[in-house]
Amino acid sequence: MKEQIKKAALLLKDGQLVAFPTETVYGLGADATNDTAVASIYEKKGRPSFNPLIAHVDGIEMAKQYVQITPVAKKLIENFWPGPLTLVLKRKKTCKVSLLASAGLDTLAIRCPNNHIALELISEFGKPVVAPSANKSGRISPTTAKHIFDDYGNEAPFTLDGGPCQVGVESTVLLCEEDKIAVLRYGGLAIEEIENLIGPVIRPEKDENAPHSPGQLKSHYAPSLPVRINAIEAFEGEALLGFGKSDSAVLNLSEKEDLTEAAANLFAMMHMLDNPKYTGIAVMPIPMQGLGLAINDRLKRASYKKD
Ligand code: TXA
Ligand code: MG
Repeated sequence: MKEQIKKAALLLKDGQLVAFPTETVYGLGADATNDTAVASIYEKKGRPSFNPLIAHVDGIEMAKQYVQITPVAKKLIENFWPGPLTLVLKRKKTCKVSLLASAGLDTLAIRCPNNHIALELISEFGKPVVAPSANKSGRISPTTAKHIFDDYGNEAPFTLDGGPCQVGVESTVLLCEEDKIAVLRYGGLAIEEIENLIGPVIRPEKDENAPHSPGQLKSHYAPSLPVRINAIEAFEGEALLGFGKSDSAVLNLSEKEDLTEAAANLFAMMHMLDNPKYTGIAVMPIPMQGLGLAINDRLKRASYKKD
């Protein structure tokens, strides 16, 4: 793996894209300071260019060179990094990360992934690596290297294979302004854990004036088949994706109703059920607490009909 990581770092230096594992999902990485390389991410994914990207760092020291770390951000970083928490912070005036990665905003999303391959790659490269999930736009996020090859075929980027991702849903994204802390995306770190540390934060479902992330396209997480949520049972032709005890589920996110297990299985199972032999995917109800918020959010996006 050491040699593979060295090769990946060289490819990044050369402006090329590299797919790598994180604890959440696989990322499609580029040199964050190279505009052309960043642009090629959008191209490769077929993603609308207004959606800003996350810069991955190997720790707070690297982060400090690019963004302004507020006292609350420092506290969050000390407690939750490396881990599935992305902080949206003000860019420093001297920030050399491509503005394209910020989609023109004066903020930058930054996180330190809890995966030794990702961390070694960033350290070896020596600069932040911007990376969205390594799927094609509108497809399910990859949680194994195979998902990337399934999506891209022989167009697949050079990929560091670190086995299946532990968390299985993307990071929680938190806007971290001096006077305003708001959830922009539910994800792998439960909001309850964040609130235990820093007190209540603004949540989009509780506050209609809450800020929202640019480019959270409704169909972003959609598989090819229609998805029906909160299903008690499958209609004819549908595959039932279970949660909790079920005799008729084709696959089960977690028989023992463990939300962490369900999150880790979510994308992989959706990939498996997204098969033309079914007419749709029916998903049993998932409780709206802890990681259940992120899972339901993903499912809702997946259930949004594309035209
Ligand atoms: O777990 C993850 O976060 C994965 C792995 C690869 O790290 N990455 C990922 O990236 O999910 P992506 O590009 O699929 O999602 C980035 C999210 C989007 O919802 C985007 O709108 C938000 O972060 N975001 C990025 N920069 C932002 C900014 N400056 N302001 C507000 N939202 C931002
Ligand atoms: Mg994504």
